[in-house]
Amino acid sequence: MNPGGPLRKEHRLIEKMISIIGNETIHIKRNNSVNPVFIDTAVDFMKIYADRTHHGKEEHILFETLTDMDLSTEDRSLMKELIADHVRFRNMTDNLVSLKNVFIKGRKENLSEIVETMDMLVRHYPEHVRKEEERFFPASLGYLSEEKQKLILAQFWDYDKNMIHIKYTQVVTKLLETSQR
Ligand SMILES: [Fe+2]
Ligand SMILES: [Fe+2]
Repeated sequence: MNPGGPLRKEHRLIEKMISIIGNETIHIKRNNSVNPVFIDTAVDFMKIYADRTHHGKEEHILFETLTDMDLSTEDRSLMKELIADHVRFRNMTDNLVSLKNVFIKGRKENLSEIVETMDMLVRHYPEHVRKEEERFFPASLGYLSEEKQKLILAQFWDYDKNMIHIKYTQVVTKLLETSQR
């Protein structure tokens, strides 16, 4: 297996969530109402799984390894574009949390902004996956020896091992802040 293997597998799960978000967007438009629990669940997935776990491995391990290598101008600029995409998705997710918080406080008029933000994620994420799978991952293999690829896979595994602890430390921290004392 090469480093693209686990990343492609993660893409398949992210795509499922993106398609669920797409369906929920249609539901929101049709019913003119937002289910805050849905948004919380989708945001949790986008933050912990898509961003920290998946983009985290891409940026901190794969891209980090490639950054000191002699990448072609085209591959280096594609890598920068992918990082910029990650920032954009991160901002969309944060925006969705703020909009939902305002919405549940009674400002119902921002429903259209919630729909717009969810639509943006649904429209742009598949293109990001395509850029990685069709262009960047295959190109990156050209720079990585078998040895380097094995090392990256081992680093991916190490990175993933910590995620469950990060996730539940966050859950406890949040509950400590919000639970009744
Ligand atoms: Fe990515
Ligand atoms: Fe990716």
